[in-house]
Amino acid sequence: MLKLKNAFFTLLLLLIANCGISQINCMTNIQGRKTISLNGEWQYIVDWFGRGNYLKVYRDTLPTDKTKFVEYAFDKQTLKVPGDWNSQDPKLYYYEGSVWLKKEFTYKKTNTKRTFLNFGAVNYQCDVYLNSKLIGSHEGGFTPFEFEVSNLIVEGNNKLIVKVNNQRKEDGIPGTSYDWWNYGGITREVSLIETPTTFIKDYTIQLQKGSSSQINASIELDGIEKQQKVTISIPELGISESVITNKVGLVNVSLPAKLQLWNPENPKLYSVTIASPADKISEKIGFRNISVEGKNILLNGNKIFLKGINLHEEIPEEQRRATSEADARKLLSAAKELGCNLVRLAHYPQNEYIVRMAEQMGLMVWEEIPIWQGVNFKSPTIQSKTTTMLEEMIKRDKNRCGIITWSISNETAKGEYRNIVLKNLAIKCKLLDDTRLVSSAFDGVKYEDTSISFNDSLGTYLDLIGLNIYMGWYKPWPKKAGNTHFNSIFEKPMIISEYGGESKYGNHGSDSIAGLWNEEYQEKLYKDNILMFRQNPSLSGVCPWLLADFKSPARLNLKYQEGFNRKGLLSDKWKKKKAWYVMQDYYK
Ligand code: GCU
Repeated sequence: MLKLKNAFFTLLLLLIANCGISQINCMTNIQGRKTISLNGEWQYIVDWFGRGNYLKVYRDTLPTDKTKFVEYAFDKQTLKVPGDWNSQDPKLYYYEGSVWLKKEFTYKKTNTKRTFLNFGAVNYQCDVYLNSKLIGSHEGGFTPFEFEVSNLIVEGNNKLIVKVNNQRKEDGIPGTSYDWWNYGGITREVSLIETPTTFIKDYTIQLQKGSSSQINASIELDGIEKQQKVTISIPELGISESVITNKVGLVNVSLPAKLQLWNPENPKLYSVTIASPADKISEKIGFRNISVEGKNILLNGNKIFLKGINLHEEIPEEQRRATSEADARKLLSAAKELGCNLVRLAHYPQNEYIVRMAEQMGLMVWEEIPIWQGVNFKSPTIQSKTTTMLEEMIKRDKNRCGIITWSISNETAKGEYRNIVLKNLAIKCKLLDDTRLVSSAFDGVKYEDTSISFNDSLGTYLDLIGLNIYMGWYKPWPKKAGNTHFNSIFEKPMIISEYGGESKYGNHGSDSIAGLWNEEYQEKLYKDNILMFRQNPSLSGVCPWLLADFKSPARLNLKYQEGFNRKGLLSDKWKKKKAWYVMQDYYK
């Protein structure tokens, strides 16, 4: 029976892979394109009971004569886009439901160009209307999507209306329960993109797997004249290579190069330009090799130890989603100050400012799709939804050398459907990108006295295993604190992808009573965990949970948590807790 189910799921995956049912796939490098920003103030209507479709809010009409009336109208109230509604309208602080957002803009049409509408992300699902026509929908709160609107956009005034719903769903990704705030809204940038009729839609430029001197480039043109000369230039390397795309607009080329390889100490990026007769696009790209050897992770052939920190895409002082370049700098500068060489973007693809800035700052990145704990793996839609999310994440960030691993899940319980879905995802991940490691974070380990054993069969399909181990918090020390050893049935690199405990900044006192949220308790917990790390030299890295206290609907202790998960090394007011200095010293 299992064989049959396995065959069915694998068949489903191949079907999906081959007939490209992936939702609207975006063009590469939006930031390098000619864009018109639609960010700013958007009018909105809260549609608590979901009447908007019945009332046809997307038509945004006025009464046609004096006998008529319309029971909806956008008015003065606006929300900033990008941004979540929870932090902008106090009435929506806990809101889960539908909101209609409207943006009017004027547009100058020419027939020499095509126009696309790109959303960086909308949480959780949305229907998008342009000039009252439904142009498409998207599900998933953390990845970009796009529509071609060349034939729908009009000269002069246009109305863009988006129905956003952030209700948690049985077959949602994540599921109905998770430990972060369900920020709803158009949480990332919205832009119109103008391109020539035939343009450079997609390109992958990365070091060939296992090489330190061969750059592989694949380029895709989109448009009527698919067969064209395209030129790849990397001036600093003296590279200017012209090739011809084939009948379907594709070309692959491999270029020898004398490179300074990217690494945290020297995060070297090169200016790369791709040009076609009508189009030209540039960006900064770094080149590095990431691989594994036994229990070691190798960066450019050298063994590395990941000095990580987990972080959510949130600015806790303002209890809002991080959206801007300044927000990214705030989060990542703190990670650098802590002495990190890696950030784990928990538990979902975070905005492009964060991913791009990380590699500029010399921070490696663990990027993850939000398959978090209790996802409904039995749901028939799960394989295609998770596959689409994986594709959208990799499509957006495949040229980011800072990203060393794609993580397909966090703390999912072993089970036959889970195993099938995640195994297929791991295989798909390798198909999409064989230059990076595939990983997952686990809490399903065996605790026996002073040893912790990992034997989850999913490890078979992974390159890197992350263990979430909360010794001294969720798990008391068996004997002497720190005296714990890790085993795994796999000869593969393992990191502690999460550990830590809570404290409320400013609470001081005993370091042995957990329930008082004292900084001293958290400080000691970190010292004990570091003792444990020193006893497990085969570990390839550690990654505290986490940078800063963050909002969570799962934290109900009003005395100490006040709606925050307080495992941060920084408080929600960005104050350094005592444990911060323990970690900083260790990383030094
Ligand atoms: C889990 C989980 C996190 C969560 C953390 C905690 O391991 O991965 O998302 O916030 O533990 O309980 O604080």
